[in-house]
Amino acid sequence: MGNCLDSSAKVDAAQSSRSTSRASKTTPSSLTIPSYSDKSNALSLPTPRSEGEILSSPNLKAFTFNELKNATRNFRPDSLLGEGGFGHVYKGWIDEHTYTAAKPGSGMVVAVKRLKPEGFQGHKEWLTEVNYLGQLHHPNLVKLIGYCLEGDNRLLVYEFMPKGSLENHLFRRGPQPLSWSIRMKVAIGAARGLSFLHNAKSQVIYRDFKASNILLDAEFNSKLSDFGLAKAGPTGDRTHVSTQVMGTQGYAAPEYVATGRLTAKSDVYSFGVVLLELLSGRRAVDKTIAGVDQNLVDWAKPYLGDKRRLFRIMDSKLEGQYPQKGAFMAATLALQCLNREAKARPPMIEVLATLEHIEAPKHASRNSLSEHQRVHAPIRKSPARNRTPLNSTPTASPLPSVRQSPRAR
Ligand SMILES: Nc1ncnc2c1ncn2[C@@H]1O[C@H](COP(=O)(O)OP(=O)(O)OP(=O)(O)O)[C@@H](O)[C@H]1O
Ligand SMILES: [Mg+2]
Repeated sequence: MGNCLDSSAKVDAAQSSRSTSRASKTTPSSLTIPSYSDKSNALSLPTPRSEGEILSSPNLKAFTFNELKNATRNFRPDSLLGEGGFGHVYKGWIDEHTYTAAKPGSGMVVAVKRLKPEGFQGHKEWLTEVNYLGQLHHPNLVKLIGYCLEGDNRLLVYEFMPKGSLENHLFRRGPQPLSWSIRMKVAIGAARGLSFLHNAKSQVIYRDFKASNILLDAEFNSKLSDFGLAKAGPTGDRTHVSTQVMGTQGYAAPEYVATGRLTAKSDVYSFGVVLLELLSGRRAVDKTIAGVDQNLVDWAKPYLGDKRRLFRIMDSKLEGQYPQKGAFMAATLALQCLNREAKARPPMIEVLATLEHIEAPKHASRNSLSEHQRVHAPIRKSPARNRTPLNSTPTASPLPSVRQSPRAR
């Protein structure tokens, strides 16, 4: 499947919090994360949940380590799908009814992510992921089937996404280059996922939107994965949440990196970066290129608003097979998402509508409307109705350090 990945730098001003979270590994933590299980009533707004509550989610199966060992054939290297900052991801098989380990090739295929003890992402991120994905369900979010918490072992079991990550398709030699229409399909699916999170009754900021976290099913439907950094959005009359700067260099919004102030518009910026990657076939940060052109946004920006020069940044693997008007609309949209002024960036619901228009100009407005009627999360009505307790003490850090995320090759 070619899931081996390159190295990428991560912005992380929270090294200390990482070690804290790892230190809390074996003790049930007092970490409280907003719950999204309540549906509509203002009186039953999300409440922080304890570790015990998060882990007893009725939507998730608690696997034993032995079950996952059997499901992955003892984490055999030839079952390895890839590696990220969290650890290794293995292919496994479970019985679709009982969820017990099945013979390879029979039952249901799953992806099993195993936290490496020395990994950057610790218990806190693991639990955040279980909390969010245990409760948020949408066709454009990867499905979490269960988890394992046994001694020092922390694992997550997901639906298997046969085409791997968008990153693999865009930047690896091997797989067929993605066509223009598939690129638009992927962008639309990812925009639906983000739009769902941003418009949920209790807004969720994803915080780690990037090509490697967009997974693809057999038909190139895209789903967001990795909710370890997700954060509840601001509530009441707050405009942002202050937090440690986390995310990946090249994708994180400049104002967030500079101030630690996080809003849904930080995700919109990251979406703009991925849209640029889809157009240009170039990584957000390309270390093989010298000088300022390393940074995709800096390199591409001057071409985005110029119809006649846009072709210069378009992915040569498209071999010119794309509609010029659609490409220019997508480039203009990327430019809006990448506005240095966060407030000037369009909300995800508008981004989605524009992408749908590019894909199918005649039916776009109808599609967008029906999609939002289909979205399972209640649309936010007024900010005052969305009070989500935030009980952590956020710290803004103006000077994020940069760390490398180890990857398999
Ligand atoms: N549900 C899944 N189905 C199929 N492959 C998966 C699944 N989840 C992850 N993978 C593969 O495993 C690899 C590693 O994923 P992982 O999310 O651990 O790291 P990453 O997103 O590449 O990096 P980072 O840690 O910086 O987020 C990816 O290349 C991806 O293709
Ligand atoms: Mg990932």
